[in-house]
Amino acid sequence: MINSTLIGAAIIGCGWAGQRHAAALASQGVSLRWAVDVDLARAQSIAEAYPPCRVATSHAQTLDDAGVDVVSLCLPHYLHAPVGIAALDAGKHVLVEKPLAGDLDEADAMITAAQRADKILMVAENVRFDPLYLRIQALLAEGVIGRPALIQMIRECYLQRSFLEDRPWFLNEHQAAGGIMMSGGIHDFETMRLLLGEIEQVQALRAPQRFLEMEGDDTSVALVRFAGADGRPGAVATLVESFLMKNLVTASGPEVHTLRIDGELGSIEVRDGRTIHLFSERADLLPGGELREHILYVPEQDTFTVLIAHLLACMADGSEPITSGRRQRRALEAVCAAYRSMAEGGAPVTLSAPSS
Ligand SMILES: NC(=O)c1ccc[n+]([C@@H]2O[C@H](COP(=O)([O-])OP(=O)(O)OC[C@H]3O[C@@H](n4cnc5c(N)ncnc54)[C@H](O)[C@@H]3O)[C@@H](O)[C@H]2O)c1
Repeated sequence: MINSTLIGAAIIGCGWAGQRHAAALASQGVSLRWAVDVDLARAQSIAEAYPPCRVATSHAQTLDDAGVDVVSLCLPHYLHAPVGIAALDAGKHVLVEKPLAGDLDEADAMITAAQRADKILMVAENVRFDPLYLRIQALLAEGVIGRPALIQMIRECYLQRSFLEDRPWFLNEHQAAGGIMMSGGIHDFETMRLLLGEIEQVQALRAPQRFLEMEGDDTSVALVRFAGADGRPGAVATLVESFLMKNLVTASGPEVHTLRIDGELGSIEVRDGRTIHLFSERADLLPGGELREHILYVPEQDTFTVLIAHLLACMADGSEPITSGRRQRRALEAVCAAYRSMAEGGAPVTLSAPSS
């Protein structure tokens, strides 16, 4: 572990994500100097857990503190860019929750501010650190299902009243920068990029709204085409993001994420978030010539701790985080393309050519 006892951090936004960032930073030996929230009780609950952390109701005071090296932004989406740029301009490294920003102009302003300040801008995109997805990435690279042709992801959620009461900003389309395609879809676009590479084109449609108190989409669907290679067309994907999917699991709170990838030699399925079911026609995976179900269980890991360890390593050696703002702009571009397509009745939207 990096010796991080001399690193000071501020948590800005002390709700669900702020609590997780605080625990993960503290577990890595970082000193929490400030817990900031407009809701003082939320700031206090973090400050009391990690003394001698102090509380504030505005981020301004914490940015003047020379002992703060890095700020964790766990704020409503519309605040990521203005507070992130203020922190970078004050010479702090910034770890920002997903999405990087509310739109691409804001994202570019943040990336420019990080370059100007020569500080790290990293997105807390935890799917990139999830051992389940890293294992599937390795299996695909080993060619166990050959060249993938189709990927299907479904984010099954049922919108809890308590979720909205805890997060009134999520009802407001501007403050949330959209709805479930932004908040959940950004994870899934990033997972697909990790597994299948660059996205070329997105089409999307919004379903009839069930939760009228929410302005953004509560259910939407995207159709995705990946970039081809070696003169062959790229794979295609479907992405379903929904707060309407009621069953005994989702109605009690947890989300269910299912993933299925089909390739020329076999298929990978994940139905419970942790177990990979692999069916392959590759000779070494077909003992006796019989099709087998290969079951690979991947234990859960606290991805917030892993990503903060990565941030500290990047701060120590000056390397670019794997989820830097510059790299995560691509996932935001895919979500923005989905919203543009929804506004244009499902028309295909082509993404810009990827930079290196
Ligand atoms: N990576 C993940 O798995 C994951 C999961 C949940 C949320 N998130 C992300 O974390 C971020 C926060 O989401 P959340 O679920 O924790 O929301 P939340 O509502 O629980 O927390 C946000 C906090 O920000 C505070 N706040 C609002 N305006 C403020 C301001 N001007 N200054 C200081 N504090 C202010 C609110 O009072 C609230 O306590 C979002 O970007 C969200 O997408 C990520």
